Amino acid sequence: MKLLVIGNGGREHTIIRKLKENPQVKEILCCSGNGGISKDARCFPIKPTDIDGVCELAKREAVDFAVVAPDDPLVLGMVDALTQIGIPCFGPTADAAVIEGSKVFSKNLMKKYGIPTAGYEVFDDPAQAMQYIQEKNEFPIVIKADGLALGKGVLIVKNLQEAKDAIHSMMEEHIFGTSGSTIVVEEFLTGPEVSVLAFTDGKTMCPMVSSMDHKRALDNDEGLNTGGMGTVAPNPCYTPDIAKECMEKIFLPTMDAMNKEGRTFKGCLYFGLMLTPKGPYVIEYNCRFGDPETQVVLEMLDSDLLTIMQAVSKGELARQEIRFRDGCAACVVLASGGYPQHYETGYEICGLDENGQAPGVSVYHAGTKFEDGKFLTAGGRVLGVTATGENLPQALQKAYAAADAITFKGKHCRRDIGARALKALEK
Ligand code: AMP
Ligand code: GLY
Repeated sequence: MKLLVIGNGGREHTIIRKLKENPQVKEILCCSGNGGISKDARCFPIKPTDIDGVCELAKREAVDFAVVAPDDPLVLGMVDALTQIGIPCFGPTADAAVIEGSKVFSKNLMKKYGIPTAGYEVFDDPAQAMQYIQEKNEFPIVIKADGLALGKGVLIVKNLQEAKDAIHSMMEEHIFGTSGSTIVVEEFLTGPEVSVLAFTDGKTMCPMVSSMDHKRALDNDEGLNTGGMGTVAPNPCYTPDIAKECMEKIFLPTMDAMNKEGRTFKGCLYFGLMLTPKGPYVIEYNCRFGDPETQVVLEMLDSDLLTIMQAVSKGELARQEIRFRDGCAACVVLASGGYPQHYETGYEICGLDENGQAPGVSVYHAGTKFEDGKFLTAGGRVLGVTATGENLPQALQKAYAAADAITFKGKHCRRDIGARALKALEK
């Protein structure tokens, strides 16, 4: 089989490595890939959002199956376009991807179908938004841009002045472009966060092993929000009882709600949950695999990924057995110094071992390129050093040992990935 994967980060590198485990896979093409991906797939300089370019390539190369991984091509309708030219795909159609593409849509969906989420109001007028926040006078409060904003469209404000600044920058200075023309103002929730990715074909819901992301740039959850600085799986806060409650109150109701709205979701649905004192609440939905959640979750998947993805696409997920390994996985992201703000790229990455760094370790490339026989940094998040172990301390120890052996100028990583999870395990 000839496969096509759309995307260019650590998540896509992980998906490609996993797909290659199936002996039927003869070749994988990727738009547009990165330095590491170029060793595992044939890369094309076609942007993941270039629908015409991707379709033209898929047709010319007679691709048998495509996986659309990032949010923006999904929201733009890449799956619809590929399906139309007869190429089976993994990923939701644009109608269903709106669950991530519009926070207003997802909040209204949850309200309509009684799915637990923070109380909220929607505004497209800055003065009205400010008036509401002033009258409510409860801080902190959360302000979210309606549309996609590279994971940065959420601001938690602690007082009236910060609220004013946030609304001004989103709605009047348009720091997130048109994504911030409409905003959601919502109640601030507290509790441990859990990421749950689930395969669904609209009829069956198969949650994968849970994970914990570390979104802030610096140790102790300080610094700015990033795409994610590291992950562990499973998430020890996510007990079997909580998993059962989430299935009943969140996962299945979401699948049913999307069906009732005529927006059947097929693909990987990402539930960003907060375990509040009142029970599990949905913080956000994503219409795709998370990054860097995928690195730890797929590392623990024991079943064949391509078979599952094909079953999702055909609506035959019920017949599929999906197994995860025992043990734990950890991913430490190596980033360019300064990320998520200003950073320099083009530095040589040293210490990479062609055969994987050590048994049980995988290095997934995110912002890298391969030039003149060398890997160079080419983005904010550079590598996701991922390891498995019998338990979490072992997985973390292996991941950090491998991460420390890799160097590049300005390399930054958090030293406390998994620390909160280890604390939760002690309790
Ligand atoms: P999101 O992009 O929606 O995942 O939000 C980014 C981060 O902001 C989340 O991972 C949470 O840590 C935080 N967050 C979002 N919504 C809330 C909320 N209602 N209460 C508290 N924290 C929130
Ligand atoms: N790691 C969070 C996300 O992929 O949105």
